[in-house]
Amino acid sequence: MIKLQIAVDGPASSGKSTVAKIVAQNLGIIYLDTGAMYRAATLVALQNKTEDPEKIIDVIKKKPIFFKNTADGQLVFLGTEDITKIIRTNEVTQNVSKISALSAVREFLVAEQQRIASEGGIIMDGRDIGTVVLPHADLKIFLVASVEERAARRYKENLEKNIPTDLEELKQEIEARDYKDSTRAVSPLKQADDAILLDSTGKTIAQVADFIEAKARELL
Ligand code: C5P
Repeated sequence: MIKLQIAVDGPASSGKSTVAKIVAQNLGIIYLDTGAMYRAATLVALQNKTEDPEKIIDVIKKKPIFFKNTADGQLVFLGTEDITKIIRTNEVTQNVSKISALSAVREFLVAEQQRIASEGGIIMDGRDIGTVVLPHADLKIFLVASVEERAARRYKENLEKNIPTDLEELKQEIEARDYKDSTRAVSPLKQADDAILLDSTGKTIAQVADFIEAKARELL
């Protein structure tokens, strides 16, 4: 069994999760979407009308966040509730940077991410994987793309899902989230010194996934 640890970090909508899922499938390793965990914590905050980290953690302890792989893709659960769709709503997206900046929430989720990583080969995507969660990862990728391209990709995805979207608003939301995520005090979005910078602007998903897979195979 492959025991590689791969960290994929980068700004919002740079394609991290899409390529990480493909690489996970091709290498037969686990894929962990850490953004979904912060989104779940944000949903808990909104549902319970609280920004108190202890209360948020308390709810997650009672209703754990977990992932289920199905034929329709990976589902996210909070206790028994399937939260796959609701954590992608605008309300959650607009509040996630605030909740993910709470250090106690991060400590709690990072411990959980490290526990999952200890179980075997893994590719994890997020903002602080190469710097904080898996500082000794075998391969670290920092995936970027121009904000125009990232907004255009999300716009297309939303159209396909029949979600009405304004391209300019999307661009602003992405820029605002990147700013908050990279300037926060705890574990800001930052390229690890030993990460490979990969610019996906103008590249296809397959090209980016192939590059990461080839780098990973060099380490086997
Ligand atoms: O990856 P995704 O865009 O779903 O992440 C949602 C948010 O979760 C990010 O904007 C960031 O605030 C937070 N996040 C984080 N650390 C991670 C992953 C996500 O702070 N490792």
